[in-house]
Amino acid sequence: MLQSKRVVILGGSSGLGLATAKAVGEAGGSIVIVSGKQSRVDEALKDLPAGSQGHAVDLSREANIKTFFEKIGPFDHLVYTAGEPLSLTPIDALEIEQAKTFFTVRFWGAMAAVKYGHTFLNPGGTISLTSGTAGWRPQKGWGVAASLCTAMEGFMRAMAVELAPVRVNLVIPGVIRTNLWSGMPAAQLQAFYDSEARRLPAGRIGEAGDIAKTFLFFMSNPHLTGQAVVVDGGSVLV
Ligand SMILES: NC(=O)c1ccc[n+]([C@@H]2O[C@H](COP(=O)([O-])OP(=O)(O)OC[C@H]3O[C@@H](n4cnc5c(N)ncnc54)[C@H](OP(=O)(O)O)[C@@H]3O)[C@@H](O)[C@H]2O)c1
Repeated sequence: MLQSKRVVILGGSSGLGLATAKAVGEAGGSIVIVSGKQSRVDEALKDLPAGSQGHAVDLSREANIKTFFEKIGPFDHLVYTAGEPLSLTPIDALEIEQAKTFFTVRFWGAMAAVKYGHTFLNPGGTISLTSGTAGWRPQKGWGVAASLCTAMEGFMRAMAVELAPVRVNLVIPGVIRTNLWSGMPAAQLQAFYDSEARRLPAGRIGEAGDIAKTFLFFMSNPHLTGQAVVVDGGSVLV
């Protein structure tokens, strides 16, 4: 399906991005991954087909993103999954300057990647972005997370109009088992996963491969653009 296609995955050293890189490889595509750390890029490349490329780029800096795209040249599909964990804080305790930093990689990094990346897309190219269910079903203390997720949705729709015929879509994951949660103590994390699995209509929490399938769907369906697809095991319903 992706033979002779070149797919660039920003955030490809781990979690959703690495699973997507593996799926691209299985579909016959060529892979370029980016993360902030060379050691993590090198580790991820061991799991990817020979010939896959990796670059260490700090996506918190616009100039780095511009230089990266100028260096790699033309490609077919852009996937943006880069992001760090964020803390959940009630509005009364929120430090606004700290809250702004949560947008740096996830939102402004994605916007810069679209700005500088889209000019290198071959005809038929796509852009796939990442959000989360916080904007659809927020809980107390989720003001920053919900704002971030909803901002990404609006940006995706605007770009689907502005950059057409480039197709632009966004995945909205629920809880997915990745390194994003590794800051939580192991026992607490397992209890969280178990309670989520019991709550969800799907009966289990998400795996990174579930999201990778969605990104490949975005790349392969020529009539799909401007869409936000929730992949959450049904969490927004219950
Ligand atoms: N997992 C979930 O349950 C879940 C749910 C909803 C939404 N999401 C969103 O999905 C996205 C991906 O999450 P994930 O679960 O795949 O997390 P992950 O496994 O921690 O992967 C995050 C990726 O982002 C990269 N990254 C972070 N900061 C970077 C920077 N400054 N420069 C370059 N790369 C950077 C990391 O690379 P290095 O660490 O190697 O630099 C890594 O490749 C995040 O935005 C997350 O908020 C995840």
